[in-house]
Amino acid sequence: MIQVNQDLCVGCLRCLGVCNFTVFSEVDGRAAVDPEKRCMKCMHCAAVCPVGAITWDGESAAEEDVESYSDGFKDELVKLIRQRRSYRHYMDKPVDEHVLKEALDLACWAPSAKNQHPTKWMVIQNRELLDDMMNKILAWVQETGTSPEIMEEYKIGNNVVMGTAPTILLAYCSDDAVNPKQDTAIAMETLELLLQAQGIGTCWAGYLTRMMNAVPALVEDFALPEGHSFYGAFMIGYPQNEDYIRVPKRLNTADIIWK
Ligand SMILES: Cc1cc2nc3c(=O)[nH]c(=O)nc-3n(C[C@H](O)[C@H](O)[C@H](O)COP(=O)(O)O)c2cc1C
Repeated sequence: MIQVNQDLCVGCLRCLGVCNFTVFSEVDGRAAVDPEKRCMKCMHCAAVCPVGAITWDGESAAEEDVESYSDGFKDELVKLIRQRRSYRHYMDKPVDEHVLKEALDLACWAPSAKNQHPTKWMVIQNRELLDDMMNKILAWVQETGTSPEIMEEYKIGNNVVMGTAPTILLAYCSDDAVNPKQDTAIAMETLELLLQAQGIGTCWAGYLTRMMNAVPALVEDFALPEGHSFYGAFMIGYPQNEDYIRVPKRLNTADIIWK
């Protein structure tokens, strides 16, 4: 749990100012934790403490010192956002697990409702399993008449569910989380940008997300814990024959009401 090391605390009380649930109060000129209050574990208290007095389970609750961004970083970020694309054609080469792990770990810094970070992940890099999933989706689409375009496109060599991705990332979450949909989407977009910054292609797989929750054979094969559902999926891989040399035009501009 969150604690204040009373030997280190200098009584600046900055932790009181940033705590979202008033977990801290002043006792004898120093900060103290009210154990009755619910800590969101955001560690903002530790991120402002000038002397490193805030601990979580006895260890420092903060990591490295904050650094300024380099000159030109904003322009690079804009470039990344404008140049990010949905890739659907990939080399037959899986992405290194450590690269995926780094991106998934980074997503822990994405904002999430009540700092719950409820999203969990499955990474599928097994071609046979991916083919089996796709066959089950096609059979179900055929049987139920759902999204007939999936079959129509597949028959002419276009897989709108998985593209030719060698890696599929599935995101699942407890339905009881405060905001499972948004939390998962934000975490996924965070890792998408990091992957694309390294030349790794991604594409949101909305069809697949729906199918993972709807196709009985997949629901059975993947057997999520009770009360959990899939909330997102990505196709991931190194792009092939998809070389975007220009930023596409957008037909919409921001639709804003200023009040
Ligand atoms: C929630 C979501 C679901 C999507 N599902 C699919 C999908 O199932 N298959 C697909 O090929 N593209 C899918 N896309 C990609 C969109 O088609 C794509 O983002 C859009 O056409 C704009 O292209 P861009 O991402 O390259 O800018 C999805 C995108 C989002 C955000």
